[in-house]
Amino acid sequence: AYRRGLATAAPSSRMPPYPKILRGLEEARRILGSQRALTLAEKILYSHLDNAEESLLSNTNNGRDIRGQANLKLKPDRVAMQDASAQMALLQFMSCGLPSTAVPASIHCDHMIVGERGADIDLPASIQGNKEVFDFLESAANRYGIEFWPPGAGIIHQTVLENYSAPGLMMLGTDSHTPNAGGLGAIAIGVGGADAVDALVDAPWELKAPKILGVRLEGHLSGWTSPKDIILHLAGKLTVRGGTGFVIEYHGPGVDTLSCTGMATICNMGAEVGATTSLFPFSPNHVPYLEATNRAAVAAAAAEIAATGPQSLLNADTKAEYDQLITIDLSTLEPHINGPFTPDLSVPLSAFANKVREEKWPETFGAGLIGSCTNSSYEDMTRAEHLVKQASAAGLKPKADLFVTPGSEQIRATLERDQTLSTFSAAGSTVLANACGPCIGQWKRTDGVEKGEDNAILTSYNRNFPGRNDGNRRTMNFLAAPEIVTAMSYAGSTTFNPMTDSLPTPDGGSFRFQPPQGYSLPSAGFEEGNPDFQPSTAVPDPSVEVVVSPTSDRLAILEPFAPFPNHDLTGLKVLYKVKGQCTTDTISAAGPWLKYKGHLPNISANTLIGAVNAATGETNVAYDEAGKQHSIPELAEQWKAQGTEWLVVAEDNYGEGSAREHAALQPRYLGGRIIVAKSFARIHETNLKKQGVVPLTFSDRADYDRIDACDQVDAVGLHDLLTSGGSGEVTLKVTKQKTGETFTIPVKHTLSKDQCSFILAGSALNLLAKKGQ
Ligand code: F3S
Repeated sequence: AYRRGLATAAPSSRMPPYPKILRGLEEARRILGSQRALTLAEKILYSHLDNAEESLLSNTNNGRDIRGQANLKLKPDRVAMQDASAQMALLQFMSCGLPSTAVPASIHCDHMIVGERGADIDLPASIQGNKEVFDFLESAANRYGIEFWPPGAGIIHQTVLENYSAPGLMMLGTDSHTPNAGGLGAIAIGVGGADAVDALVDAPWELKAPKILGVRLEGHLSGWTSPKDIILHLAGKLTVRGGTGFVIEYHGPGVDTLSCTGMATICNMGAEVGATTSLFPFSPNHVPYLEATNRAAVAAAAAEIAATGPQSLLNADTKAEYDQLITIDLSTLEPHINGPFTPDLSVPLSAFANKVREEKWPETFGAGLIGSCTNSSYEDMTRAEHLVKQASAAGLKPKADLFVTPGSEQIRATLERDQTLSTFSAAGSTVLANACGPCIGQWKRTDGVEKGEDNAILTSYNRNFPGRNDGNRRTMNFLAAPEIVTAMSYAGSTTFNPMTDSLPTPDGGSFRFQPPQGYSLPSAGFEEGNPDFQPSTAVPDPSVEVVVSPTSDRLAILEPFAPFPNHDLTGLKVLYKVKGQCTTDTISAAGPWLKYKGHLPNISANTLIGAVNAATGETNVAYDEAGKQHSIPELAEQWKAQGTEWLVVAEDNYGEGSAREHAALQPRYLGGRIIVAKSFARIHETNLKKQGVVPLTFSDRADYDRIDACDQVDAVGLHDLLTSGGSGEVTLKVTKQKTGETFTIPVKHTLSKDQCSFILAGSALNLLAKKGQ
């Protein structure tokens, strides 16, 4: 096992830098005028601006139209990374040559742990299988002063909630469910590795100012309904795109009726509607949670700020306005079940049996899975335990296999001490490692369900896209609260409504569940658990050598890209002309390639393999000058070996999808210098610039038709434009490969002065490294 020393991490790093944040808020109020009412999200974001004046006043009608318009340049307080995405983030960070991270950061080994036969067997096997990656992450953490949470310590979002999240904090996390921390009043945003590196090196991180969707909670939950049902219901209302470009900000009298962990569940699943993040205002229920997790000082500081009234950093101003407002009455809300295959197909429990029959979904299900980063709080587990105890007393055993994934060692050890886990085990359920496991496809099913076979499972997780849990795209994952999953597992039937239906007992009687009851916090406090699962210290140690084996096929040190030449780029060739949509997944596919996330040369073998050839309609088929057929990465590799640099021609919204930095790194690594498109997705356009690739758009969209694969291109005026910080014109001088005809195409760019400097240096990180010398 991974053995660490006991936690000696500086507790001071757990306290948000409140004096600085409050000064930031004061400055924002000075710029916008003290009469201007702000929402909570606006307060936290604007108080973290690098240059508030510039962010709030440029392009915003003098500060009147910030939301949806301004480009906020932010300085987050903290960064959290999971093991899969941390690899490239750290490799990039290392290339800057800095001795330590600029802000406190943590690494959490959770995504690479298999869930199969229980923690005792699965954890050592997963550590063995991923040893080189864990060794790398741990050594890099020790060298640069990052807290390293070893495999088995827990799932990133649960660990962040228990240790780092705090009201008013701003953090970035390299995982889409980072907003979980919003349950404790933080602005926590899921990003790609390159964005995390911005924060780690103290460069401002850019975000288009989000719009604010207010969700007003009224009444209070009771009986079977739990916080999960709030977000299951909301996902149905908003759909998977409804939150895009918005922060979801909860408020209203219902907030104070929710536990801190319940609020985290709600924020966690805000990712399912595409929201930038979700958050709650300061609540009295934050105080006991912070105190129970050894952060009484944070609780006291936050309570003191909140006590200054509705103008405070930790609440929305009384007159704050929302771009959109939804009200939910918790008193009338009923449990919901969402799915299959999409988290926004939401059905109230009372209507679910009919829906199952109507849609001809399977009427039985083989497994119920509870816990994960979404729903493994003490409250969730003790409410589920209450149901198990009722059923056990009636002599019942679950009909479906029941799996329990604790979110962290702290929660696991506490549930063990309080005999909750033994109640689950006695009922026949399997307790998996404190890790993602089945939630991220690391579930080796042993119940005989074949790949491609239609079947159903019920989980208390957050995502249910095809193939996500067991790799079988026909497994229908229905999402529900852990209480509902647990109770329904006793019937093994998707048409069973535990609120109204009964089950036959072995003695010929009939059993009906009573509504679940639990405890939001353990009365005897939390247990720390296994000392091996404590984090490493956060003190940088330059004597530590970062472990990357030169023979590894999963990790490779990043070599800095060459600086821009002292002249225009000439003699580039068109590698590929892409037809139609080209997402970051088209440019850098996921699935089996995820294994190579830390090895740029190896993962580059997937570059653009999803792209459609505009001339032939074929996917991933490129032709060289002699007309010989290659895969796109093969031809790029061949040209790289010959020293031929290249460009890609594309249509609209090139690079839409995610913030995946590999989609910019890989073309650059293989010799790509320019992407010329009809338009770009904004985040990817920025990522390209960061890696030293020049994104250009056609001034006349029709010019897309005039340029073809293997044509030769000179970028005339580009060098002057870069050295002048963005002023001047660029034209592409095109020489047709087939006819030798020559003509010029005018193009546009969006390069700022800073971005010109990135490109001249070879990449943003090169520039930082140069400045740091
Ligand atoms: Fe892990 Fe699934 Fe949460 S992958 S981080 S448990 S969403």
